[in-house]
Amino acid sequence: MQVLLKVVRQTSDSAPQIQTYSLDVEPGNTILDCLNRIKWEQDGTLAFRKNCRNTICGSCSMRINGRSALACKENVGSEVARLQTIATTIANGSSNHLNETPTITIAPMGNMPVIKDLVVDMTSFWDHLQAVDPFVSTAARQIPEREFLQSPEERDRLNQVGNCILCGACYSECNAREVNPDFVGPHALAKAYRTIADSRDSQTEERLEQYSKGTKGVWGCTRCYFCNSVCPMGVAPMDQIGKIKQEILDRQNDQTSRPVRHRKVLIDLVKQGGWIDERKFGLKVVANSFRDWQGLVSLAPLGLRMIARGKFPLSFEASEGTEEVRSLIETIQRLETEPQ
Ligand code: SF4
Ligand code: SF4
Ligand code: FES
Repeated sequence: MQVLLKVVRQTSDSAPQIQTYSLDVEPGNTILDCLNRIKWEQDGTLAFRKNCRNTICGSCSMRINGRSALACKENVGSEVARLQTIATTIANGSSNHLNETPTITIAPMGNMPVIKDLVVDMTSFWDHLQAVDPFVSTAARQIPEREFLQSPEERDRLNQVGNCILCGACYSECNAREVNPDFVGPHALAKAYRTIADSRDSQTEERLEQYSKGTKGVWGCTRCYFCNSVCPMGVAPMDQIGKIKQEILDRQNDQTSRPVRHRKVLIDLVKQGGWIDERKFGLKVVANSFRDWQGLVSLAPLGLRMIARGKFPLSFEASEGTEEVRSLIETIQRLETEPQ
């Protein structure tokens, strides 16, 4: 079959340009096969990373038709079928586009600067991984015991996160990382959960404190789900971030922890009015209902800006569906507390 590959090309000091290559391929050929053929038969200057060709090394991650994926995993047939499904949906069932030559778009990963063409500088990706201290602490080793023993069940808890091949696909698509360069990213926090879940590690409390700081750690995640949807190894980083949050929340109460208070106040206010009364939200969460003076002072600039622009809500009207919302929340809360 004939396909067009539109490749976004650039060097670190130039604007991106699209170059189109035409190839005669089999549907089962991978995107990496296509790139190899372009490099070997048409254009030796095209730059991309690869190594194992077998979804093991994580080197060949790039944006294929708009989402980060491994070039050695995705093949032409499935990409074309995917594009046709999307095009048919957009065209409301029309199949006119099926006669056109299929076009596959290839671009470098996001959230990292381009070095050349599809090769990005992954320094921040590795630095953020290093920042979560992703190694099992050896302090728990019992001398003279020579091995860290684990039961099969304890080892099973590490399987999912252990599948990470550090390809960068999740980091490339992470919305939180895009707006907050300090956020360590889904790959790092998935690895962080691996150390917390590891029965041999002896630094759980210190780790939880570290991962809970500001928006660098778990509280920086916006729960956009993109990392889960692109991860080629089923690591589900957002789920692992959720597990770390739960470990943190289990150890704290709403007086000592702002994240815990945030959750509780949010639910209480929605129960009261069907939606959030913004006048109370900041005061209850950030200022801890006037108990936290530093928090109260930190709210002042925002409050004054809102008043100056006429955006400070002076009154609150409960939502029409308050009764239903309250009943839903109460049902869930009851189910959560009932014994299984
Ligand atoms: S979590 Fe998944 S997407 Fe992220 S680096 Fe690991 S394997 Fe790649
Ligand atoms: S769910 Fe969180 S960590 Fe995952 S991509 Fe979205 S913001 Fe990033
Ligand atoms: S080349 Fe190793 S994962 Fe694709």
